[in-house]
Amino acid sequence: MRLVLLGPPGAGKGTQAYRLANRFGVPLIATGDIFRRNVEEGSRLGVEAKEYLRAGELVPDDVVVKMVVKAIENANGRFVLDGFPRTLPQAEALEAELDRRGQPLVAALAFLLDDEITVKRLAGRRTCAVCQRPYNVELHPPRQEGVCDRCGGRLIQREDDREETVRHRLEVYHHLTQPLLKFYAERGLLREVDAEGTEDGVYERAVAALADLGS
Ligand code: AP5
Repeated sequence: MRLVLLGPPGAGKGTQAYRLANRFGVPLIATGDIFRRNVEEGSRLGVEAKEYLRAGELVPDDVVVKMVVKAIENANGRFVLDGFPRTLPQAEALEAELDRRGQPLVAALAFLLDDEITVKRLAGRRTCAVCQRPYNVELHPPRQEGVCDRCGGRLIQREDDREETVRHRLEVYHHLTQPLLKFYAERGLLREVDAEGTEDGVYERAVAALADLGS
């Protein structure tokens, strides 16, 4: 399985990516999570990425592409990719790398959701500081307040989830990332999923959209 997930911030990519990677038994590569971990650790990559994340801007393509190529190597070419590609140059670089490896993508799964719903979801999001699992104080609270069900980590509010920053991230999405739906449609790889409704409902639709693919 080699799958990329597309969709606006707050569409539920991270939530579904974890479940889909488990279902297909492949590593999850989530670029936002990798950046946040590096920011937390104060690594060189984290220092480089920090201000972009805070402002809701994209990290420069060359930095992200290098990081993802390394992650794909470590994953032995089987993965669910969440958060990449986000620009045309990133999509072209991914295609070139996978062609070079003789391991093309099997699908690009796009989660479709209205902007106002994503703003609402992100306002209530809390994220595990350790494993990055997303929760929502209203829609999907953890069993114990402030504590991750999966790993016991502390739940925090992401700095880029302030409404003003979320609206900017949505603009960036519509301008730079949404054109990738056409890029993948032209290659016969695009599958679309309605991301409204319950997490389980979205998951079932995502699995159904991929049902004809092998692992
Ligand atoms: P990243 O971490 O990838 O953020 P994003 O794409 O903006 O996506 P989000 O994590 O905000 O939303 P999501 O779709 O994963 O939703 P979630 O499942 O959490 O990127 C962050 C930053 O890193 C970027 O701004 C950029 O700076 C940098 N970056 C990353 N990749 C890059 C790249 N390739 N190039 C350049 N820069 C890059 O769900 C959201 C909320 O809704 C949660 O509270 C969840 O519990 C809830 N929820 C989920 N599903 C449902 C449902 N069905 N019903 C109700 N609530 C739900």
